[in-house]
Amino acid sequence: MKKLLLLLDSDPVPSVYDIFVGYDGGADHVVSYAGITPGNIAALIDGAIFTRGPSEKKHTAIFIGGANMAAGEELLTAVTKHFFGNFRVSVMLDSNGSNTTAAAAVAQIAKTVPLASKKAVVLAGTGPVGLRAAALFAKEGAQVSLTSRDKKRAAAACRLIEARFGISPIPLEAIDNDARGAAIRGADIVFAAGAIGVELLEEHHWRDEWTIELIADCNAQPPLGVGGIEATDKGNTRQQKLAFGALGIGGLKLKLHRACIGQLFQSSDQVLDAEEIYSLAKTMA
Ligand SMILES: NC(=O)c1ccc[n+]([C@@H]2O[C@H](COP(=O)([O-])OP(=O)(O)OC[C@H]3O[C@@H](n4cnc5c(N)ncnc54)[C@H](OP(=O)(O)O)[C@@H]3O)[C@@H](O)[C@H]2O)c1
Repeated sequence: MKKLLLLLDSDPVPSVYDIFVGYDGGADHVVSYAGITPGNIAALIDGAIFTRGPSEKKHTAIFIGGANMAAGEELLTAVTKHFFGNFRVSVMLDSNGSNTTAAAAVAQIAKTVPLASKKAVVLAGTGPVGLRAAALFAKEGAQVSLTSRDKKRAAAACRLIEARFGISPIPLEAIDNDARGAAIRGADIVFAAGAIGVELLEEHHWRDEWTIELIADCNAQPPLGVGGIEATDKGNTRQQKLAFGALGIGGLKLKLHRACIGQLFQSSDQVLDAEEIYSLAKTMA
């Protein structure tokens, strides 16, 4: 029986990355739909849960993607609410690589430095990766702040995290690199989660900040998110601080994403979201 992955994307076009990793993770075929909302999901889920018998359902799985974390969370709720009895299949949420990237990064950071009671600042934390990373740092016991160029967006992001995880980071407005430089003063951990190709900090903003133990950046496309560290850094020392760059994080992220897809096909009752994916990341880090 073929392993079928139903990819539901909240964006107008389904993610090529998620389709390719679906195959590399073990799916025999990936069926993708875009523009998915809770309002148009029912027939798609029916197609996934009514086509195979109870013992065969583990060969069907659902992956939820798209660039909007809140939309992804709503889709996950809609999918799981549609299940009943044995009429269910395993499902994974990973809007824009949010869970797999944040889990791979925070698991590697947590293995490198203790996080309990540390001050962690997530720069540009309003995107999917930053939202999940902020939540995972908080779950590790860190005191987390999250920046945005806009105060209201920072506050909305923190409310989203609180609604999902019961943990509220501190929202900070930081409109430019200098403001983000001010936001990291006194921090132990700096995590840059800005959009691709956007520099959030220059080296002079962090190199003399003696409290900073570790600095990580998710953006792989030049200019990198943090000046003075390399994309390939994986616990390298830069200016007496430990550094992780996007490729240093990305190796585990990709392995983790593939492993999650493989795990989906092991049974029909799994929901892989932040906690489950982070647990797996910790075993792989
Ligand atoms: N290393 C890996 O394996 C891996 C995997 C997946 C993703 N990524 C990378 O992880 C990063 C975060 O991904 P994401 O999807 O969460 O990002 P995103 O949603 O595209 O962007 C995150 C935030 O960046 C801020 N931003 C956008 N343009 C900006 C600008 N010109 N100046 C300053 N801030 C700006 C925005 O925050 P405000 O508007 O609120 O300020 C936005 O919410 C990206 O760089 C992505 O490429 C890496």
